[in-house]
Amino acid sequence: MRQDHLITATQLSRADIEAVLDRAAEIDADPAGMADRYPGTVLGLCFFEPSTRTKMSFETAIKRLGGATTDMGTVESSSVKKGESLADTVRVVEGYADALVLRHPSEGAAKMAAEFVDVPVINAGDGAGHHPSQTLLDLYTIRDNVGLDDLSIGIMGDLKYGRTVHSLADALTNFDVRQHFISPESLQLPRSVRFDLHNAGAQLREHTELEDVLPELDVLYVTRIQRERFPDETEYEKVAGEYRIDAETLEAADDDLAVMHPLPRVDEIDPDVDSLPQATYFEQSHNGVPVRMALLDSLLSEVDQ
Ligand code: NCD
Repeated sequence: MRQDHLITATQLSRADIEAVLDRAAEIDADPAGMADRYPGTVLGLCFFEPSTRTKMSFETAIKRLGGATTDMGTVESSSVKKGESLADTVRVVEGYADALVLRHPSEGAAKMAAEFVDVPVINAGDGAGHHPSQTLLDLYTIRDNVGLDDLSIGIMGDLKYGRTVHSLADALTNFDVRQHFISPESLQLPRSVRFDLHNAGAQLREHTELEDVLPELDVLYVTRIQRERFPDETEYEKVAGEYRIDAETLEAADDDLAVMHPLPRVDEIDPDVDSLPQATYFEQSHNGVPVRMALLDSLLSEVDQ
């Protein structure tokens, strides 16, 4: 990868993406083969919002590369609680770590943090903005299951606040992909994201009903309504539970459909889907480790040079 930081998926070319996915596939085939690659390397984890998968898979990834983590802990238990600024926090953690993984509720936080430090910064989610490392594992999962070209994908749920959606949609413009966005009108793609997608030549259509497109999809990417981003709880209640799939919904889908979800799910995928061959979301979350190993290897090897 040419850049020092990973802030948005728009900075990734098709060649960058393919290099990380190819490396991840090699790692997946021989997970123990990288155990001595980065002895003594420390990854700084700065999570200002809750996380299970992203944080734990980055931790596992650096450990499987022979390195270790230093973790800011929760906002409640850190000096952020005392009023420390983000800029000061990252400048301090830079002194303890060789790269930083940052999750923050404010859009643009990772970009701003990257201006204050010299070590690579990976954006692990900035508010309703972007989440590019999730995108890499999403693309890996798509490529593994159905391939990345001549693809029809339905992206459903919270397209307004869903940062995984914004990054995935950006990255998919590098491939021959028809993108169908399915959501209530109030949660459609933000105008700025739609504008960028059009500029990148995206083949996109927007729908309010899944049934209009389900039979033609190769991938259905379901997302959680981002309750924590709604300024008004009553607005959340209006849309909660509206876009839900279960085994019966999938009767109209292709047998080879891959149902994906960045997780956590709340109630948008019924547990009766879990045992169907189309359920791909746990495999997707497991792919976080080899893909993040490949990503860290790519960023850290640039630092070495
Ligand atoms: C996502 C996130 O944090 O944006 N989670 C994740 O990293 N897998 C999705 C979500 O919280 O809904």
